[in-house]
Amino acid sequence: MRSQEMTTMATTYAKAEKAARAAQAAEAAEAAEAAETGSASESADAGRYAARLRHVSKSFAGPGGEQLVLDDIDLDVAPGEFVTLLGASGCGKSTLLNLVAGLDRPSAGSLTTDGRPALMFQEHALFPWLTAGKNIELALRLRGVPASERRARVEELLALVRLHGAYGKRVHELSGGMRQRVAMARALAQDSRLLLMDEPFAALDAITRDTLHDELTRIWQETGLSVLFVTHNVREAVRLAQRVVLLSSRPGRVAREWTVDIPQPRRVEDAPVAELSLQITEVLRGEIRRHG
Ligand SMILES: Nc1ncnc2c1ncn2[C@@H]1O[C@H](COP(=O)(O)OP(=O)(O)O)[C@@H](O)[C@H]1O
Ligand SMILES: [Mg+2]
Repeated sequence: MRSQEMTTMATTYAKAEKAARAAQAAEAAEAAEAAETGSASESADAGRYAARLRHVSKSFAGPGGEQLVLDDIDLDVAPGEFVTLLGASGCGKSTLLNLVAGLDRPSAGSLTTDGRPALMFQEHALFPWLTAGKNIELALRLRGVPASERRARVEELLALVRLHGAYGKRVHELSGGMRQRVAMARALAQDSRLLLMDEPFAALDAITRDTLHDELTRIWQETGLSVLFVTHNVREAVRLAQRVVLLSSRPGRVAREWTVDIPQPRRVEDAPVAELSLQITEVLRGEIRRHG
């Protein structure tokens, strides 16, 4: 390799490292701030609810004035409960999840969570210059897990998402499904009691998505985590949840809820899943007709 190329590579690497350090610092600062607000919001309800929202509204300033996106949302997630939040695109699902995550504040109403939630998005958001293992380890480092314990914990998390032996793999060597498994392990590394998921499998093919539904169900059952899972896909909502909460559009309100009493593991093509999905789709269609 010519020395000029090596210099270019070294510069690129240094830049990447600098960006990584800045991102880590930002994440750590954010974590510290969230820990502070978390303790402030930790009330008598902590432990009884993974999340509790009362009369939560959110508006954004738009060109035509204030736009009300979420209107008077009441929502509880019990410890260990799996809730899916279902609604048409643009109805405010991500806005609501960001509020629960503490990334933004409600315009009105109150919101408490049991500790700081972990977040997982559609885009895996892994650092491409780190290996799968190092991406997970970063989450452990940020929450102060001693270096001597980190490697073993990363291996446990990799085993939990069935990625044994993937520690040294680079992000570009992993398939879309495997990247989401790493992202899941990284979210689990945060040791939160509430996992927030924003359409995490929307970009995957149907078969991979099916497999990850099974894995998520198993992990939820094994860990006892509470999960608030956002999707616009009715069958996915019914496949996963103990309770489906439907948001209306413009503004987002809780339109209706369903308890899903179908035993796990479920398949999207199981008759009871298909039947309930059909019912919910009808209501969702009505909502879309009414609100556009
Ligand atoms: N930061 C923001 N500033 C202004 N408007 C926003 C902002 N975030 C979201 N919105 C608006 O809120 C509405 C709901 O968006 P979003 O929560 O992303 O919907 P969903 O996730 O259900 O598709 C959209 O009309 C969007 O344009
Ligand atoms: Mg969204």
